Amino acid sequence: MPISHARVAAFEILLRIESTDAYASELLHSARVAKLSPADHGLLTEIVMGVLRWRSVLDQNIAQYSSQSMGKLDLEVLTTLRIGTYQLVFLNRIPQHAAINESVELAKRARKRSAAGFVNAVLRKMAKQQPRPTSFDPQSAHPRWLAERWTRHYGSKAAQAICAYDQSTPPPTVHIRDSVVVEELRQEGIELESGAFLSHSFTVRGGEIARTKAFRERRIAIQDEASQLIAMLAGHGRSILDCCSAPGGKTRILAQNNPKANVIALELHPRRARLLRKLVPDANVRVISADVRAAPLAQDFERVLVDAPCSGTGTLARNPEIKWRLKPEDLGRLQVSQVEILTAAMTRVGLGGRLVYSTCSLEPEENEQVVERALENDASFAVVDCRGALEKLAITGELSWKSFDSVLSGNYLRTIPGVHPCDGFFAAILEKRA
Ligand SMILES: C[S@@+](CC[C@H](N)C(=O)[O-])C[C@H]1O[C@@H](n2cnc3c(N)ncnc32)[C@H](O)[C@@H]1O
Repeated sequence: MPISHARVAAFEILLRIESTDAYASELLHSARVAKLSPADHGLLTEIVMGVLRWRSVLDQNIAQYSSQSMGKLDLEVLTTLRIGTYQLVFLNRIPQHAAINESVELAKRARKRSAAGFVNAVLRKMAKQQPRPTSFDPQSAHPRWLAERWTRHYGSKAAQAICAYDQSTPPPTVHIRDSVVVEELRQEGIELESGAFLSHSFTVRGGEIARTKAFRERRIAIQDEASQLIAMLAGHGRSILDCCSAPGGKTRILAQNNPKANVIALELHPRRARLLRKLVPDANVRVISADVRAAPLAQDFERVLVDAPCSGTGTLARNPEIKWRLKPEDLGRLQVSQVEILTAAMTRVGLGGRLVYSTCSLEPEENEQVVERALENDASFAVVDCRGALEKLAITGELSWKSFDSVLSGNYLRTIPGVHPCDGFFAAILEKRA
């Protein structure tokens, strides 16, 4: 029996994510799946993101009907079962026989012929379950240690909101400064709504933004609104250093917001630096592949952005695989490199200049604590209240969000997914005073 291209691709992508450090967001847009029809690509995305978002709930269901213990299942067999279970439990529109039969074929295709009968038996038993559950607790689809620490840091209501947001599919948002492009997209049938935070940000409410001419020609990019806000927070200057820059979402906004500035984009990995160059062709951006801790730079900068590599716990709606990979002990390791990167970046700020330190993590170890540690090493900097920067953006009409208090935590900017309509970002502004 032939298997749908979407399910074969979903199987390959999920297997790759489980066995390497690959990300769904990249694999779902790779050349391997570019030729799928829009319908097949839609089903592929639904299955991959659904399986990753609900993995623990799917595994509980599988364990209930499996004659073998979960730890003994091959990754190929487990992946096949997860794909079948997700369709049976969450996708009512897919006929049960299609979900079961195609999973059995996937097991055979993965040379697990002997497991095909087992996959068939588990899924058939599951399909008979009555009554079928209709809702699941989003918190149960997260490792307990993560949900518990969010409850500790943000309270139980916010922790529930974060978990619920992580299980949703946020609409794409785009940053567009040119009204002609807005009109062009509307002509192509794209429904745009003003963003929640920024006047140049738009939420896509209808149409396939990734199939438009402007997207293909890289005149627009999909970027979460909180990520756009971080780039705007960096403000204006004649010389700007973006220390951890690929794939370049924030570099692009820095360059467009400062058309007369020289923007240097540093990126550790050459492959990612090349990607950045492709995605951000702006003439005022120079891309250098280097480690910020040993970068070959002679000058000081008026504005520096350090969008540090982090756990990414503020982006689980878009990157659900992170929650299954991350371990509590990773936070300490990440903090060590974040302090090193921030400390090195601080040496590049000219007198009176400003640095924005940001992450898309919800964890204080990667945020406030990194800033505190870096300031212990260098007393010539002071923390500046982010409220002032927000007020400035509001005065110029670039910020439409009114409720400053809700996105401020002391001097810092703090967005929380589900509490705010965006990813979870942290930002601190440091000023070089001596
Ligand atoms: C959070 S991502 C940056 C996202 C980017 N600012 C954007 O808005 O598209 C962090 C980036 O920093 C790079 N990186 C990690 N360590 C670095 C270092 N020591 N020096 C320079 N870049 C580094 C990573 O390869 C990664 O591309």
